[in-house]
Parts: sequence; C-alpha cells; structure tokens
Amino acid sequence: MSTATQPNPAELAGLPAADPDWLGRAIDEVAELTEPGTGVTRLAYTPLEREAHTWFAEHMTKVGCTVRTDAAGNTIATRPGRTDGPAIGTGSHLDSVYGAGRFDGIAGSVAAMEVARMLDAGDVETNRPLRFVIFAGEEGARFGQACLGSKLAAGLTSPAELDRVDRDGVTLADAMAALGFDGRTAVANPWRPEDWAAFIELHVEQGSVLETAGLPVGVVDLISGSTRVELTLRGRPSHTGGTPMLGRADALAAAAECVLLAEQEVLGPTARGARATVGRLTVTPNSITTIPGQVTLSLDVRDVDADRQRLLTASIVAKVHAAGRSRGVEVSVRVLGDTSPVVLPLWLRETITSTAVDSGVPYRILTSGASHDSQMVNRVTPAAMIFVPSRNGLSHVPEEFTSSADIATGVDLLARSMLRLDARLGPAG
Ligand code: GLV
Ligand code: MN
Ligand code: MN
Repeated sequence: MSTATQPNPAELAGLPAADPDWLGRAIDEVAELTEPGTGVTRLAYTPLEREAHTWFAEHMTKVGCTVRTDAAGNTIATRPGRTDGPAIGTGSHLDSVYGAGRFDGIAGSVAAMEVARMLDAGDVETNRPLRFVIFAGEEGARFGQACLGSKLAAGLTSPAELDRVDRDGVTLADAMAALGFDGRTAVANPWRPEDWAAFIELHVEQGSVLETAGLPVGVVDLISGSTRVELTLRGRPSHTGGTPMLGRADALAAAAECVLLAEQEVLGPTARGARATVGRLTVTPNSITTIPGQVTLSLDVRDVDADRQRLLTASIVAKVHAAGRSRGVEVSVRVLGDTSPVVLPLWLRETITSTAVDSGVPYRILTSGASHDSQMVNRVTPAAMIFVPSRNGLSHVPEEFTSSADIATGVDLLARSMLRLDARLGPAG
C-alpha cells in the first residue's frame, strides 16, 4: 500500500463534484415518507422504512448498481470493480426516531446515492467493487437497541434478542416477519469479513463541535457505547386526597429522584463527559387524583470508556434501589441494550484526513456521542466516519439541519477517500 499523500490524478479522473441541489431535493423527498405528526417518524422495521429502502434501490439501479437485500433487511447496492473481491463500502440508515429531523442517517444515505451517481456520470472505474448500504433499524427508539440491522450483519445478535418488544408489545421477530424477514435466518447469516475491505460512513455530527470550530468536516476516532436499562418502580397507588403525605409509596416521586440521581452521577468529577438520560417515563395510572402506583423509565448511559459506562450505570441503579427502599417503592431492572464504545482504525482515518489535506478541506478529529452502524460494521471490516456540521448541534428533533453545501463537501471528501483507498488497495487477488 502506498503512503503517498499527494492526490493521485487517476483517482479523481472524470469524477464530477457532488450536487448540493440534488442532495437537498433527495432529503426533502424522503422526508415525505413519514407517519403523521411533527417532524419525521419512520421507525425501524416498519413499512415506511421499507418504502425508503425501495426509494434508495430504485436510484441505485438507475446509476448502474445491482441491488439486493440481506437477511436482516439491509439494502446493498453493488457497483462492480475491475476485479472482484473485498469491497469498499459506504452508507447509513433511513429509519428515524419519533418526531425526528430529516438528516440523521439520511445525509449518509443520500451521500452514498450521490457518490454512486458521480462515479456513474464520470464513468469512473475502480479496482474493487463498491457497495452502498442502507442499514435497517439503526435507531434504538422503537426496540431499545440501536443498530439492529448492522448488529445482525456483524453477527453480534443472539436469537433471544429477537424477543425484544416495542411499546405496543410487538417483538422484533414479528416486526421483521411482517416485512418478509426471518430473524433467525438473519442471526445465522452475518456478513462475511472476506467480502469487505473497508467501510466509510458519512453522518451529521449531532453535536456542535464543527459548527463552533467553523469547520466543514470532522473525522471520527471514537464512537461512544451505550448501556440502556428499563427501571420499573412499583409503589402503592391510592387516593391523592385521602392519603396523608407520610407513609406514601409514590412511584413517581421515586422516579423523580432517579432522574436527578442519574444527572448528578455523570456530573461528578470522575464521569468526565459521560452522558446519562432518562428519556421515557410511563406513569400508571397517570391520573390527577391517584398517587402514581407504577413508573417505568428508560435510562441511557453513554461513554467512550466501556468500563466507566457500565460502572456509572451500575452506580445509578444501586442509588435508585436505595431511593426506592427509603420510599417503600420496589425497583426492578431490565437491560434493554448494551453496546461497547469503539476505537476506529487509524490507518483508515488517515486515508480520509490525507484526502482532506490534499483537497484543501479543513477538518478536525472528534469523538461521536451517538451510536452508529459503523460501530457494528467495524467488527466485520475496518470502518471510518466523516461528520458534517449540525446547526446548533441539534439532532433527534425536527429542528435538525445541515446545509446541502456542507453535505456536498462531505460527499466530495467521501468519494475521493473511497477512490484513494481503492487506489491504495489496488486490484483484488
Ligand atoms: C442513534 O441515533 C443513537 O441514539 O445514538
Ligand atoms: Mn444516525
Ligand atoms: Mn439517530
């Protein structure tokens, strides 16, 4: 592998620039595929998510790719190279959280589509096949675990995980089956590492580092892990007027303590940038005139340090148990998901940073607070991530925004990095 950092003219021959107008239009178009309500809601393993995958597949077929869907529902478009063999990949996800914005996952998906169009328009040949992937079910919002499709592809999913349920009690297995995917087949058929050379994902930053620094792109070194638990607090429901304050077992008062305990725990001097969030509370009976008898809440702890992520979670849970005991509220805990942080390989990051330097694109290295498919893919093949700025650092809300010009800068860097990597790896075999 050459370590030259000068641009190789061959790697850019004929490659047109990314088209910001097309990127903007594509993002607007896919945003129409949503449940009614504020923002975009296109949940994991739903017919709407499949519609978005079909929309991707149609575009990819038009730009000369062969499209297939794997057992997990990940859609994979392949552009042949001069030689067959381990492919260079890119892509992201097209599902969303409840009431999402239009860019999380979508930016990297339309980036993949645009890279394929640019290569096709420029008749650019590569040594290796290129694969453009839309992962199924990246968002943990529906089933509690992020990156379901990529986790299956990476062979990291056990059959028992297919039993996880959404808020309506639908299992992952049933949601997949309704779309024609057999979960057990997906568990048994992960991707083969020998089919892949590397994977580069473009994504919106979902933080404010790039905007604050005035930089158009970031290159990720670490992706945070997350531990997610569901805590059920069982107190004693009773009349809000007839029951004296002393001796109550109010599950919501205990839950309120839990929310603040979690916040305090990660603000402590040793937590160093960890994040803990209670994002969902279900109060039963949720009535003005009955003391809350039961509260179920989610706790999401994220960190770039695996040990600290788990120790902080255990510490918060232990304090919630203690708070429950002092209030006569019983606490039970269910682990929803537990994903380790990931260090992305330096050599692949260097392919991107050297391309950025040679293209005159200023960048910085940064960590990802959010989870990403690349975290799972990195178990199959070396993965890297390019971030583009998020306005005001906002994400998972309708106000999420990244300009088409910024996405286009990221797409140009992505395409050039893939071509540089292809040139460095040379023909397969
Ligand atoms: C994925 O978007 C996550 O929740 O990190
Ligand atoms: Mn995402
Ligand atoms: Mn997300």
